[in-house]
Amino acid sequence: MADTTVPTGHGHDEDSSRRDFLLTSTVVVGGAGVIAAALPFIDYMNPSADVLALASLEFDLSGVEEGQSITVMWRKKPVFIRRRTSTEIKEAEEVPLSQLKDPQPDSERVEKPEWLVMVGICTHLGCIPKGQAPGDPKGEYGGWFCPCHGSHYDTSGRIRKGPAPRNLEVPPYEFTGDTTILIG
Ligand code: FES
Repeated sequence: MADTTVPTGHGHDEDSSRRDFLLTSTVVVGGAGVIAAALPFIDYMNPSADVLALASLEFDLSGVEEGQSITVMWRKKPVFIRRRTSTEIKEAEEVPLSQLKDPQPDSERVEKPEWLVMVGICTHLGCIPKGQAPGDPKGEYGGWFCPCHGSHYDTSGRIRKGPAPRNLEVPPYEFTGDTTILIG
């Protein structure tokens, strides 16, 4: 199993990184079994890294509490999964599209309002924004902040201020259970 820890930004907090690692490790182990069942055509004589990079992955989110974020790896990219609070959902839903640089309603970015799932790579130059760990700066709009050049994302992961041109990407995914998600 590859190391699934990912940096949550520059100079991240050790305690929160360890917590993220534990959560991430747990869910990724669950996903590995799904790969074997779902992709029988992959050449298993030459497995692991290539399979993991291409496959859809399933994650169990039952241990993620409201207001908590985890980072999982999918196709070698960090994916941020946040269980949003009711306040965050309300803020995301009430923003007029006219105020958005990359206009997109929150409803088009989530399957379930409670769960925000997006690729954690800044659309400016590809840094990993801060905001996953509890003590991280979340920017002026309460979501994520990319300190490289100062891009602020809101609670829907939409770009609100700074040089990034687009919202954080939402990967293809579906819920396969109340708290089980298949990404890819
Ligand atoms: S890479 Fe995020 S602001 Fe430049």
